[in-house]
Amino acid sequence: METCKSHFLMLLPLLFLSQLLTVGSVDHYRYRAPGSIRLLPDTTPERHLQMAAGAPFKITLFADLHFGEAEATDWGPLQDVNSTRVMNQVLDHETPNFVVYLGDVMTANNIMIENATLYWEQAISPTRNRGIPWASVFGNHDDAPFEWPLEWFSSPGIPPVRCPQPTTSYSAEEECSFKGTGRVELMKNEIKNNGSFSVNGPRELWPSVSNYALQVSSSDDDKSPVAFLYFLDSGGGSYPEVISSDQAEWFRKKAEDINPDSRVPEIIFWHIPSEAYKQVSPKSTIAKPCVGSINKEKVAAQVTETGIMKLLGERTSAKAIFVGHNHGLDWCCPYNKLWLCYARHTGYGGYGDWPRGARIVEISEKPFSLRSWIRMEDGNVHSEVVLS
Ligand SMILES: *[C@@H]1O[C@H](CO)[C@@H](O)[C@H](O)[C@H]1NC(C)=O
Ligand SMILES: *[C@@H]1O[C@H](CO)[C@@H](O)[C@H](O)[C@H]1NC(C)=O
Ligand SMILES: *[C@@H]1O[C@H](CO)[C@@H](O)[C@H](O)[C@H]1NC(C)=O
Repeated sequence: METCKSHFLMLLPLLFLSQLLTVGSVDHYRYRAPGSIRLLPDTTPERHLQMAAGAPFKITLFADLHFGEAEATDWGPLQDVNSTRVMNQVLDHETPNFVVYLGDVMTANNIMIENATLYWEQAISPTRNRGIPWASVFGNHDDAPFEWPLEWFSSPGIPPVRCPQPTTSYSAEEECSFKGTGRVELMKNEIKNNGSFSVNGPRELWPSVSNYALQVSSSDDDKSPVAFLYFLDSGGGSYPEVISSDQAEWFRKKAEDINPDSRVPEIIFWHIPSEAYKQVSPKSTIAKPCVGSINKEKVAAQVTETGIMKLLGERTSAKAIFVGHNHGLDWCCPYNKLWLCYARHTGYGGYGDWPRGARIVEISEKPFSLRSWIRMEDGNVHSEVVLS
């Protein structure tokens, strides 16, 4: 991990350069006809997380923290204190090698603009303070526009009026209005941290931003992949809740490029479940082959399916998808050769009073295996499952 971090610092200018190259000429981007997105080759190098010799690689998923929810009430800030406690408990029990923030890190619907990045900071600090690297994907609440009417703010508290930035592809017809902090800005701020492995993904895919891949490398050789971790932005907030066909195409090209013979197992993370989750969802109690402890609500799926599930369902190397979003569901169920898994509601923010916890994903190298379980705030462990 040490070498990995110091390499990253040296690579920083290179990463920016390669991202510029990925985008191609600025003119190409600026003048492309609306709706005719052309995917340029994504040459961004995958950053590596190297396994320690003789130990599995453990990932903790923090889902639906909802920091900053109801910030103007008495109880809103107390929820955040509670969510921080949950993260501290889980991290102390599990001492993971990596953390994934699985979306809805914040409830941005009513956060004053200047506070958004502060809440993000609060959410990542238990991980950062322990020197654990992490990555994040966006949920449907992270860059949601304000829902509060203007008159609810006292005059000094009125957030500044923001106009869409001409450099992003937020729909150009949008007028300057009362907005929250956008995905790109949130991510830029997170990436300033040395421990963040998040990437503002290929610009052609914006406004979906958290699209990138990371490599988990063998303890013997940093160049040799043990698994690829894919992160996709399932939308919501500033645009519809969907993984677009362009994102699916990006995944297909990326996987072809870095894993051409499907030899290396792939693990996938996004926030809002696909419609396929409805097909495998337990009818009442959770019975084999599904494994989990709560099945308390209906799957709230993306608005449509444009191809990512077909691609993943056909790949022998794709092992499991992990999502958040439904706070009352925590199961894993098989779907073809894939596992479709929910994380566990980690935050005290957001709906639902089911006890809080976090899903753990553990990768072993020789031989390869993928196991998962749920660690609760009170230390209990349940729902262990072998996924590969
Ligand atoms: C904070 O957590 C405690 C212990 O679980 C709970 O009793 C309390 O209601 C929580 N407060 C809020 C505002 O979520
Ligand atoms: C949010 O912003 C308001 C106004 O600037 C400020 O009074 C408040 O303390 C901020 N909250 C946090 C958590 O920083
Ligand atoms: C990142 O690491 C460098 C070198 O250790 C340090 O100088 C810098 O302050 C760190 N930045 C942050 C945001 O922690």
